[in-house]
Amino acid sequence: MTTGTFAAGSRDTVPAPRLPARHLPWLGPLPAFYRDPVAMLRAAREQVGNAFAFPLLGQDIVFVCGPEAHAEVFEADEAVLSPREAYRFMAPVFGRGIGYDAATPEEMDAQIAPIRPALGSRNLDTYARVMEAEVRAQVARWPAEGEIDLLAELNRTTVAIATRCLIGEEFHGRMGPELPRLYHELESGIRLAGMLSPKVPIPAFRRRDRARAAIAEAIGEAIAERRGRPPGDGPVGLPDFPSGAAPGQDMLAVLLAARTPDGHPLPDRIVTGILIAMIFAGQHTSAVLATWTGVLLMRHPEYVPRLRSEQQELWTPGSPLGTRVLHRMELLDNCVREAERLHPPLILLMRKALRDTTIRGHHVPAGALVMVSPAVAHRMPEVFRDPDRFDPSRYGAGRAEHRRPYGLIGFGGGKHRCIGLAFAYLQVKAVWSVLLREVDLWPVTSYAPDYSTFVPAPTAPCTVRYRKRSMETS
Ligand code: HEM
Repeated sequence: MTTGTFAAGSRDTVPAPRLPARHLPWLGPLPAFYRDPVAMLRAAREQVGNAFAFPLLGQDIVFVCGPEAHAEVFEADEAVLSPREAYRFMAPVFGRGIGYDAATPEEMDAQIAPIRPALGSRNLDTYARVMEAEVRAQVARWPAEGEIDLLAELNRTTVAIATRCLIGEEFHGRMGPELPRLYHELESGIRLAGMLSPKVPIPAFRRRDRARAAIAEAIGEAIAERRGRPPGDGPVGLPDFPSGAAPGQDMLAVLLAARTPDGHPLPDRIVTGILIAMIFAGQHTSAVLATWTGVLLMRHPEYVPRLRSEQQELWTPGSPLGTRVLHRMELLDNCVREAERLHPPLILLMRKALRDTTIRGHHVPAGALVMVSPAVAHRMPEVFRDPDRFDPSRYGAGRAEHRRPYGLIGFGGGKHRCIGLAFAYLQVKAVWSVLLREVDLWPVTSYAPDYSTFVPAPTAPCTVRYRKRSMETS
C-alpha cells in the first residue's frame, strides 16, 4: 500500500507510511480531501494505520490518530510543534499580532489570560440567563407551526448571545440586525485556499475583509464610549437580572480593566482583535454543535420523552435557567457530548513541525504540518464501543468512555484546550432545554455534513418542521 516514505528518521524511529501518489504528486489526494476530508482520512487510516503522510498542494502532511498520539501532539513543546505557525492563516480574521499571529507563544498566552476569568463560573450564571432569554425570544418570533432553517435560526441565537455576553448590550443594540450576515462573511472567508495563501484576492476573502473592518469599527465605537464614560456612570457589562444573581461583566469590561505586565491598559486594537477572535472561536462552532444535537435528537426521538422528564424534574416553570440546573441535566449533557463526538465542529486540528521530531515513534520532518482529526478519532472502535452509534449511555457510570485521556477531543487537549468549553456546553444545553420544552421537531431531509465549510454543519438549508407545544406541557 505504501509507495514511499518521508526522509529517513534516526535509528530509533520509523517514517510514517506515505499514501500512494495518484497522478500529480504535488497535488496529493486533494480532490478526495476537498470533497470529504473525514471519509478520506478514515479510509486511509483503515488501510494504513494510525500514522501516515501525504502531500497536499505541495505541503507535507503527517496525520496521526489515537489517544497516545494526541497526547504527544497536544503536549508537545511549542518550539517543536507550533499551533501559531499552523494557524497563522487566521490573521486576516483576528488581526495582525492577535492570537495565533502574536509575536511569541508567551504573548498569545498573555492575550488569552484576561479572558479566562470572564468565562469563569461567576459570569456563567449571568450568561445562562442571557442564553435562555435569547432562545425564548427567538422561538417567540416563530408562528405556531411551520418550517425553519435550524442552523440559520441557531446562528442568529448564538450571534445575539455572543455579542451580548462578550461585547455588551450597547454594541448588540447598535449592530444587532447586521451581525449574523457580517459574522457569516467572516467565517466564510476561511477556506482551504486561505490556509495555504490567505491573501489571494478571491471574492470570499474580500467580503471577509470588509466584514472584519465593519465589525472592528463598531467595536472601536463601543470601546470609545466605555472609556469615555465617567466611573460609576450607568451600567457596565451585562444587566443585573431581577432574580437577584450578581450582575455579570461582559468580556469587553474585563478586557478594559486588564493591564499589561508593565501596568498599561490593553491597546484598543488588541481589545478589538481579542473580541473578534473570541466571537469567531465560539459563535458559529456553538451554533453548529447545537444544530447537530438537534439533528441527532430528531433521528433518535426515543430519547425525547426522557429528556423532557429530566426538564420537568429539574426546572420549575417561571424560574431562571441557572448554571446549577443546567449542570444537573445529565441526559441532555450526554446527548450534547454525543453530538460533539459524532459531529465535532472542528474536524482538523493542526501543528507545524518547527524541528525534526517523532510522534509514536514515527519521524516527522521539520516543515511538515501535523494533523489530528476529532472527527476521525471519535469513530475509533478501540476508544468508543460501536462508534457510529448514537448512544448517550456510553458516558454513564461504568463506561465513562469520555474519561479516557485524549479520547474525546472536540475541544482539543493539553495546553491549548478550548477555554470556552464550559460556555459552549452551557449555551448548547440552554438552547435545547428551551427547545425541548417549547417545540416539537421533525426532520425533513437527511442532513449530510457540508465539508466545503471550515466548520461543517448539515448542508444548507437545514430545514426542520416544528410545532409549538402548549404552555401547559412545556
Ligand atoms: C462548540 C463550540 C466550540 C468548539 C467545538 C471549540 C473547539 C476548540 C478547539 C478544538 C480548540 C483547540 C484548537 C487546537 O488545539 O488546535 C479550541 C481552542 C480555543 N477556543 Fe474553542 N471551541 C468552541 C467554543 C469556544 C468559545 C465559546 C470560546 C470563547 C468564548 C472559545 C475560545 C477558544 C480559544 C481562545 C482557544 C485557543 C486556546 C489556546 O490556544 O490556548 N472556543 N476551541
